[in-house]
Amino acid sequence: MNVSILGGGAWGTTLAQVLTDNGNKVLIRDINLDFIKKINENHVHPFFDLAIPESIMATESLEEAAGFSDVIVLCVPTKAMRQVLKEINPLLKTKKTFINVSKGIEPNTSLRVSEIVDEEIAKDKLNGYVVLSGPSHAEEVILRKATALVAASYNSNLACFVLIIQHSHLIYL
Ligand SMILES: NC(=O)c1ccc[n+]([C@@H]2O[C@H](COP(=O)([O-])OP(=O)(O)OC[C@H]3O[C@@H](n4cnc5c(N)ncnc54)[C@H](O)[C@@H]3O)[C@@H](O)[C@H]2O)c1
Repeated sequence: MNVSILGGGAWGTTLAQVLTDNGNKVLIRDINLDFIKKINENHVHPFFDLAIPESIMATESLEEAAGFSDVIVLCVPTKAMRQVLKEINPLLKTKKTFINVSKGIEPNTSLRVSEIVDEEIAKDKLNGYVVLSGPSHAEEVILRKATALVAASYNSNLACFVLIIQHSHLIYL
């Protein structure tokens, strides 16, 4: 499956490796040209300077990321989330599933990312929303150490879908 990741910093590029390890094709979108070069030309993690799979691609183009997949991982800092969602909304041609992995609430409004998505993404462009979170640190996950995450959504099928593309063991509580 194709997956777009918005934000290719410490966590976004680490998740790109997890997704690639599990057979997905990943395109990262970032505004940091140095990060893009490191991923595309040097095939190294821009934050940790460790080798990453050569198939991981990066782009500065939000339009390219919007067209690449129907699954969009949100991994920019929460303070930049609204701006990025505002920019991507008019570029969406099909319904997307948004997976938020960014922690925290919006400064000034105290809104959760799910609420920002509701405000900024047109209803006919939104297939669903899932949050993937837990006690995970990029510096451990990039070394392929085990961790435990929770995928949560109003749509339980979508939450399971996210666990499956991450190739996780499913544990129902
Ligand atoms: N680092 C971790 O271990 C970890 C683990 C779980 C969750 N998170 C969460 O993931 C989110 C990202 O964390 P990180 O550690 O990857 O941070 P980071 O600073 O390493 O990466 C953030 C990326 O977002 C990009 N960015 C910033 N502003 C942008 C904008 N306006 N438009 C487009 N791109 C922009 C930056 O260029 C950068 O590459 C945070 O909310 C963090 O809490 C991090």
